[in-house]
Formats: sequence, structure tokens, C-alpha cells
Amino acid sequence: MTPRITIDEAGKHAGETVQIAGWLYNLRRSGKIAFPILRDGHGLMQCVAVKSSLPEELFETVKNLTQESSIIVTGKVRAEQRAPGGYEMDLEGLEVVQRVTEADPYPITPKDHGTEFLMDHRHLWLRSQRQHAIIRVRHAVIKAVRDYFDSHGFTLVDTPIFTPAACEGTTTLFEVDYFDDNKAYLTQSGQLYNEATAMAFGKTYCFGPTFRAEKSKTRRHLTEFWMVEPEMAYAGLEDVKRVAEEMLVYIVGHVLETRAEELKRLERDVAKLEAIQAPFARMSYDEAIRILQAKGSEIQWGSDFGGADETLLTEDQKGPLMVDRFPASFKAFYFEPAPDNPDVVLGVDVLAPEGYGEIIGGGQRIYDLDLLLKRIEDHKLPKEAFDWYIDLRKYGAVPHGGFGMGIERCVAWICGLEHIRETIAFPRMLYRLRP
Ligand code: 4AD
Ligand code: MG
Repeated sequence: MTPRITIDEAGKHAGETVQIAGWLYNLRRSGKIAFPILRDGHGLMQCVAVKSSLPEELFETVKNLTQESSIIVTGKVRAEQRAPGGYEMDLEGLEVVQRVTEADPYPITPKDHGTEFLMDHRHLWLRSQRQHAIIRVRHAVIKAVRDYFDSHGFTLVDTPIFTPAACEGTTTLFEVDYFDDNKAYLTQSGQLYNEATAMAFGKTYCFGPTFRAEKSKTRRHLTEFWMVEPEMAYAGLEDVKRVAEEMLVYIVGHVLETRAEELKRLERDVAKLEAIQAPFARMSYDEAIRILQAKGSEIQWGSDFGGADETLLTEDQKGPLMVDRFPASFKAFYFEPAPDNPDVVLGVDVLAPEGYGEIIGGGQRIYDLDLLLKRIEDHKLPKEAFDWYIDLRKYGAVPHGGFGMGIERCVAWICGLEHIRETIAFPRMLYRLRP
């Protein structure tokens, strides 16, 4: 039996005859020789089919292969410096599993397709080398996130997706019917539940899909995105900032170490990633407003940053920028006010460099019962839905805090992408629910 290998294992099999199962990526041919390039999800392998050394029927089959037909090839692996992965295969046999017909050819060709066309064919577009690289960087980011928290004393406690109340304001809630005329909402954040689990386990994190009915059609917004959210008991704003900084440095380091080839394929300037080191720059919202106004922005104290403000703020920064102490007026109900100024809260946003904007939001939470009740009332939130959350302020309340990082925004920055849509296999956006 000929051993079946994957293309990334070719180096261990130089000089041997092996079998590889995959799809036809490309085909170059002349009268007497053909070069089918195979992809198998692990790499690319150029095969060499020479007419004079193959049965006539087999050479005809190879010559007439169509893009993305599924095939299993057999042949001898040989080192070849000029080939895509450093190895080539001298073709000896080929089995066609399913042949793509000329009448209905693979829709994505090497020519330039528009973004809308590619998004409509996302189920096929994922086969391209570029998408492959992005999704593998995403995988590395997620692994680094998990490794970081798992090795720093955090327990993974996942939180529900159906929730009875809003966490991040009521304007971006997706409502669903939930038996007997009840309504449920798709979670915007696991944070409120994390606060309960942090009181049980000390340090926890959740990682899962979150939903926002964002009406904004920007390059940073999805309606469904994956968020990692750590939460720590007996912790304040400075602890939150330190963990966010350490985690980001760890993620970037891990991606540089394990995904160099993918970053190269994406033509990412890795020097910019290598410059990501602690400590990150830190400033207060007050200072940020002064800088923005000096740079000509019309922003006034009391407004949230727009995307353009975030870009302006970070244009002189090599690394991420942490902005803290935001006005309470536009922040969520749960933020702890600053002890020296109740108009601002102990919240922090981490802005990525190169114009990528906010990738992390978090801070310290209110733990005083009366203050929390007042905030729930001020924000006109239904108190009944928060009874369990309020309990946490009655039974051993402590200062605590955490943050949330959107995986897709982090991946867009690390890969250097123009738009967030390519960072997730099947993006959900204002005008996109398919495929
Ligand atoms: O700043 P946000 O809204 O914070 C929270 O949800 C907190 N409850 C998190 C916490 O403290 N546990 O969202 C956190 C992050 C943002 O910084 C951004 O990276 C991402 O989630 N995010 C989005 N990513 C893609 N599309 C959207 N529509 C996003 N909204 C937020
Ligand atoms: Mg935010």
C-alpha cells in the first residue's frame, strides 16, 4: 500500500512514492508535459506529468483536468527549490474523485473578481491561499488567547447566548421569541455572567459568539463576532490594563513565531508587529480630547470617539494605546466611577496602531449595592431582569474588573486587512446573512 500523506509532510518523504488527496489548484501544460498543482488544505504540491513515461489515457486525463476537481495523486516526492513548498512530485498515478465539468466551471478564477462576488461565493472563496492564511492566523490568535489565560490561573466558564437582558445598551439587541410569549436576546457580552463566575472562581474567562444589531456599515463592525472576556475578583482598573497588555504581547509573539509564512503571504509588514512590546502608551480621555482638538478634530469633551478620532489619536504610536477614565455619560451602566471625579468612570479602551481603532474595551465594575441600583434606574433598565446580578452586590461584593476583546478586530490588525469581513469564515453583517 502506498502511504497517504499531507503536503506539509512532503519533506519527510523525499525519494518515496506516496499518495496525496486534494483538489486541482492550477494546471500548466504543453504537448508533452503537464504541471498540475494540487492543494490539500496543508499546502501546494506541483506535480510533473511527462507524456512519454505515462499510459496515454492517464496523460489525457491529467491534461484535461479542471480547476477544483477532487483528485488523488500518486508519485515520487523530490526536493525542488523552485517549487512552491520546496518539493515536487513526479506523477505516476491519478484518480479523479469528482470532475468539475466544463459546462459548470469553478466560478472563482485567477482574474480579479469584485468583493461582492467573492462574498457571495464565500463557501468557495475560503479555498484561496489568502483566505487560508487569514484563517490560520485567526486560529493562532485564538490558541494564544486560550494559552495565555489557561497559564495565568483563569478558569474557562462559558456564558449563555440566550439572555433576558441587555449588557451593552438596548439599541443593539437582537430579540428572539422564547416560548410562551417570552422574549430573549442574543448576548452582546458575557460580562455580567463573568462577574458571577469571578466571584466563584476568582479569575475566569469566557470565549464565544456575541451579537450586536449594529446598523453601522463600517469596516470594523460585524453583527456576530467572537469575543474573549476575562474577569477578575479583587482587581481594579490597573490590573485590567496590565492583563490586556500582557495578553496582546503574548498573542502577537505567538503569531510571529508560528505563522510567519502566512503573514508573508498576506504581505504583512512584520517589523510593525515585532515592535509591539510592553509597556503600551497610556493616556486619559481628557488628554486624548486635548490631543484630538490640537490635531484639528471637532470632538468635544463628553462625546465618544469616532473611527476617525481613533485613527488620529494613534497615528504617532508604534504600539497599542490605552485610553482610560471616560465620561460616565456614554458608558454602560456597570462602570465604577473614579473616586476623585464621579463624572468619569474607570473604563479603558485599547486602540490598535495603524488605524485599526478599538480592539479591547473593559474596566472596573460597580460593586456598591446602592450605586448599582441607582445606575440601573438612571439607565431605565428593567430591575427584575437584573435581580441575580444585584445579588452579587449583597453577598461578598469586592472590587472587580475585566475586559472584552473582539477576535476579528484583533485578527484584522495582525493580518493588516482593510476590512473585518475576511477574518471570519462566514461573516454576518448589516446586509449579509449568506452564504
Ligand atoms: O467595548 P465593548 O462593547 O465591551 C463589552 O462588551 C464589555 N462588556 C466587555 C467586557 O468588559 N467584558 O466590546 C468589546 C470589544 C470591542 O473592543 C471590539 O473589539 C469588539 O468587542 N466589538 C466588535 N467587534 C466586531 N463587530 C462589532 N460590532 C463589535 N462590537 C464590539
Ligand atoms: Mg467599546
